[in-house]
Parts: sequence; structure tokens; C-alpha cells
Amino acid sequence: MLIKLNKISKTFGEGIKEVKALKNINLEIETGAFTAVSGPSGSGKSTLLNVIGLLDNADNGEYYFDGVKIDSNNEAHINHLRAFDLGFIFQDFNLLPVLTALENVEMSALSSIPNAAQRKTQAQYFLEQVGLKDKMDTFPHQLSGGQQQRVSVARSLMGESKLILADEPTANLDSENTFILIDLMKKLNQELGTTFLFSTHDDRLLDKVSNTINLLDGELV
Ligand SMILES: Nc1ncnc2c1ncn2[C@@H]1O[C@H](COP(=O)(O)OP(=O)(O)OP(=O)(O)O)[C@@H](O)[C@H]1O
Ligand SMILES: [Mg+2]
Repeated sequence: MLIKLNKISKTFGEGIKEVKALKNINLEIETGAFTAVSGPSGSGKSTLLNVIGLLDNADNGEYYFDGVKIDSNNEAHINHLRAFDLGFIFQDFNLLPVLTALENVEMSALSSIPNAAQRKTQAQYFLEQVGLKDKMDTFPHQLSGGQQQRVSVARSLMGESKLILADEPTANLDSENTFILIDLMKKLNQELGTTFLFSTHDDRLLDKVSNTINLLDGELV
């Protein structure tokens, strides 16, 4: 089991503005799973991914990553997980415009792979895996949206991350590239065994996923 959440809650604001974004979430995600989080706008998908990705703290409940309980005061542990075990794919790709595809991918592993030659070899390997062998020296503005998102998939895998989190990774892609991206993530999940957790609004994608988590008003349904 890679992820275990026990009665996780998260509230934003106070008084009349209070929003219970997550209410007593119990959830287990197996190592190697390929899981989609679905639910309407405002149902808590981003909040759940942010808590699991250690970008935000829950107010209550317990979170175990790979069997170890997360303690929000233990910065060393959290920083280690962020650097070594967690990879992120963002909606808007978040590539640095002044760096080539290869440099963008290499950059993400400065701390997890200190040896520059090893870092480059791994970046080239993952760019090949996402079908961008010929685009390594290209800058983001010279790539299509689908290609940029594949660079960011390669980036997320650097350092052999255990969990890839993606909050609506297809939101800025056309439908052709949306399906290409999901098929790619699934292929990587099967071939590398990396665990993927992504959110989506797009019900067409849910057919491609064996595990789905449905949120409604901060609760699992
Ligand atoms: N930083 C914040 N401050 C205040 N309220 C917030 C904050 N982040 C989220 N919320 C509220 O928490 C609830 C859940 O938001 P969240 O962003 O997790 O939903 P979502 O399912 O990702 O929605 P969408 O599909 O639109 O991205 C919403 O009511 C939202 O307004
Ligand atoms: Mg969201």
C-alpha cells in the first residue's frame, strides 16, 4: 500500500465563509495503481491531490506514505518525499521557457540525482519513453501543448518517483492529445510500475481507468 488516508479533513475559511473541502476521507491506494479522481467543480479534487502531494496540510486525520505516517512538523521527511518520491504534472505544463526540453527534465532532479551525467542519461531515457527523442534540444515555445505535457510527464518521472500526481493534466489539451496523454501515462504505469493519481472532469477518460475515486462535496461517494 502506497497511500493510506484515515479520516482526513480540510476546511477553508471561517464562519459564514467556511468550506469543508474534505470531510473524513478514508482512502487506500496500492503501489502500482492507476487511479482517477472525478467529481464536479468544487468537490475537493485539487484539495485531495494537494494534501496527498504534501502541497497542503490536512486539518485532521492521518496520512501514511509507504507505511510511514506524515508529521507536518517533520520537514526533513516531507522535503525528502518531495525531492525523491513525488512527481507532479501540472495543467499548464509549467516548463521553464529558457530551458530546452532536456534541461527542463534534468533540472527537476538536481537534488535526487546529484551526478550530472546520470541525470542527463535518465532525462534522455524518460524523454525517449514519452516519444520525444527528436525534441530534446527544443524550447517549450517550439513544442505543441501535447508535446509540452509529455515533457512534463518525463520530468515527473525523474529520480524514479513512486507517485505521480496530476491535477487535471488534460485540461489544456485537445481531445486527441488528451487520449494520447492518458494512454502514455497508462503505458508508463504498466512498464515502470509507477503509481499514478490524476484528477479529471472528463468522463470519457474514466473508461480507461480501472480505479476511480468519486468526490462530491468533499466526500467519497
Ligand atoms: N485556498 C482556498 N481558500 C478557500 N477556499 C478554497 C481554497 N481552495 C479550495 N477552496 C474551496 O474548497 C472547495 C474544494 O475546492 P477544490 O479546488 O478542491 O475543488 P475541485 O474539485 O478541484 O474543483 P475544480 O474541478 O473546479 O478544479 C471549493 O468549495 C473551493 O472553493
Ligand atoms: Mg481542481
